[in-house]
Amino acid sequence: MEKIEFLDLGQQPITNNFLSNEAPQNEFLYNLRVGYDQATSLVSLMEFIPPIKMFNENYAHRASQSQTMRKAYKELSDNLKKKFKPKSILEIGSNDGVFLENFNNIINVGVEPCKNLAKITNKIGIKTYSEFWNYNLSNKIINEIGLFDIVYSANTVSHIHDLEDALYSISNILNKNGIFILEDPSLLETLKKVSYDQFYDEHAYVFSIYSLNKIIKDIDLEIFYVEKLNTHGGSNRVYFKKKFGNQKVSNNIDRMISEEKELGINKFETYLDFSKKVQNSKKNLKNLFNIIKDKNKKIIGYGATYKSSTVLNYCKIDKNYIEYFIDTTPNKQGKFTPGTHIPIIDPKDGMNETVDFAFLGAWNFRKEIMNKEIKFIDRGGKFITHVPNPRIL
Ligand code: TMP
Repeated sequence: MEKIEFLDLGQQPITNNFLSNEAPQNEFLYNLRVGYDQATSLVSLMEFIPPIKMFNENYAHRASQSQTMRKAYKELSDNLKKKFKPKSILEIGSNDGVFLENFNNIINVGVEPCKNLAKITNKIGIKTYSEFWNYNLSNKIINEIGLFDIVYSANTVSHIHDLEDALYSISNILNKNGIFILEDPSLLETLKKVSYDQFYDEHAYVFSIYSLNKIIKDIDLEIFYVEKLNTHGGSNRVYFKKKFGNQKVSNNIDRMISEEKELGINKFETYLDFSKKVQNSKKNLKNLFNIIKDKNKKIIGYGATYKSSTVLNYCKIDKNYIEYFIDTTPNKQGKFTPGTHIPIIDPKDGMNETVDFAFLGAWNFRKEIMNKEIKFIDRGGKFITHVPNPRIL
């Protein structure tokens, strides 16, 4: 694969590396650059970070933390049971089991390299392999358990550097009529929303349907349906079957690919244009923060997300701008944001009358948050977002 760089997001930390110390020594930083491959139109980081630096026993993200996500996983599970009547399901990147727990009456197996998370699911009776997904692991699971009717993977395949091996191994573990469902952020939405914060250490790739279709050319997988989702700021749920599998191929795939091509997803110039928009976004967000700070108003951060780490470090927004972040995740509280060293506290302690503005780190949960913070809004509190352009809401 020959990548050409189109975006430089500067020095960045590991987004999951929430710090216990305000002034850490030797914090690991790297230059986050994003590139485009002419042959497949695949967009990926120029430099991949060693997986063990990101996915380890300190992994902070808990998929079950968000009500929106819990509800979405329950709904999806009900639909899959009704439609495909699976007898077995494997999830790659099973996190804390928020999806798999809906399949307790069939064979449900997780793959989760972060040991702290695998411990949670093993404890509640979901057999979980705490290993990285690859061909050897697929064969080990086939030997111990067998083939699967459904393989599901949300926000994980985009993290796996050897993409071809990951997809090949999925095809390997599927039954003849088995299906694979991939859910990952949409490149189309990233470009439309100028949400450059989809790029961070874990997101080695941001997929389009166009590029996925090219990558599976030599693998026994074929896309048969695609759904657009609102999750994670705009994602695609892509359904794959084996080439001779019995599912009917929908004509919505051609439609989706046409839409992507209309936006120029297969042209390098599109990415150069995106890069200019990102630089403008940085300038405008910084201006907005400066105007608010000049008025001596208090700004906090709402949701210390991985995505916000890219924004803060790229725009150099630190404690001088954001007094603290609030976040509901217990193991982020009491820590400091990577790279920018802003304290993270419990919303109960931080969301009070002294707050004038809240920068939406978790902008993808905007609706859920705005519904929850009626009191803040009613007393004149305002949210700031950078998506699709920096502004006060
Ligand atoms: P995610 O986008 O990776 O799922 O992370 C969302 C983060 O935002 C997670 O750390 C929890 C936090 N959050 C809040 O603190 N309050 C909220 O109301 C929501 C929806 C999320």
